[in-house]
Amino acid sequence: MKSTKELISILQDRVNHLAFKSQPAGLYEPLSYTMSLGGKRVRPLLCLMACNLFKEDVEAAIAPALGIELFHNFTLLHDDVMDRSFMRRGKPCVHVKWDENTAILSGDALQVVAYQYIAQAPAESLQACLDLFSTTALEVCEGQSYDMLFETQSKVGEEEYLEMIRLKTAVLLACGLKMGAIIAGASAEDAQHLYDFGIHIGIAFQIKDDLLDVWGDPAIFGKAIGGDIMCNKKTFLLINALKRVEGAQRDELLHYMTSNDIERSEKVKAVTALYESLRVREECEAKMNHHQALAMQALASLSVSEDKTFYLRELAESMMKRQM
Ligand code: IPE
Ligand code: IPE
Ligand code: MG
Ligand code: MG
Ligand code: MG
Repeated sequence: MKSTKELISILQDRVNHLAFKSQPAGLYEPLSYTMSLGGKRVRPLLCLMACNLFKEDVEAAIAPALGIELFHNFTLLHDDVMDRSFMRRGKPCVHVKWDENTAILSGDALQVVAYQYIAQAPAESLQACLDLFSTTALEVCEGQSYDMLFETQSKVGEEEYLEMIRLKTAVLLACGLKMGAIIAGASAEDAQHLYDFGIHIGIAFQIKDDLLDVWGDPAIFGKAIGGDIMCNKKTFLLINALKRVEGAQRDELLHYMTSNDIERSEKVKAVTALYESLRVREECEAKMNHHQALAMQALASLSVSEDKTFYLRELAESMMKRQM
């Protein structure tokens, strides 16, 4: 069985050797730019780890794993336009370094390239991988649609939020895991347990991302702090704050959410102070830990011996402690 370090190094080497066409440069340069800026590579790593649970040789899963990472990067290009973000992985977003049209079209191309890599799955699992991937890709779009819709919807429930992040984030992690299992020839039950593991770590991962968007260190996180606050994103923090807030604090929060002419630093500072005073961070952390525990339960249901799941458990743990 390969260690996390070995799998990351296999992946990194393959990412470094990704070769995009060179012309038109306006289409392909943003692809090399995005893929060269790093990122944690969590999704392809999960794919290879899942495959490696059942099979020593992970070669057959590498191209599909890269396909999932390419697709993830495509979603980031468009997400940064939708979220009006300007920094990603410590560098200007594609729509800032180039322009919005470039981010849209290069994103489109990146999605096609992602499909080309998924299509390299071994013949015996190709149909299953393509079906899983297409279903997942549509779900990510559905999640992103809810995410945007909720910006202007004042009442969003906890369950609606959880479903939105399941779709926009968790299904892609789950898809990577399940695809790795399918390619390795695992049983349908094991593939499903890995999928469920992915859903729960994915939900916890997005809640952690929401926390870092408020309290992260931009130099490590690689994104500007307060982007969610500026967009009135219905994060678990804001949903719980709206549920708890009363009196003058309620007026203050609603004022910051409805006025369009407030300076960024003022709004971010004020809303963060309200979150702190309302103690919503604790609520978020509890929800994150709950899904982390559900993830561990799913992993324990696998037919493989417990020692084999060590690296997956370790990775899930580190994803919750991350600062980037
Ligand atoms: C960012 O994903 C988008 C979310 C779903 C939160 P990552 O945090 O995995 O981003 P990179 O790939 O490591 O930059
Ligand atoms: C990301 O959610 C989900 C997708 C990109 C599909 P966010 O909008 O929170 O991700 P970041 O914070 O921009 O990375
Ligand atoms: Mg975003
Ligand atoms: Mg977003
Ligand atoms: Mg975010």
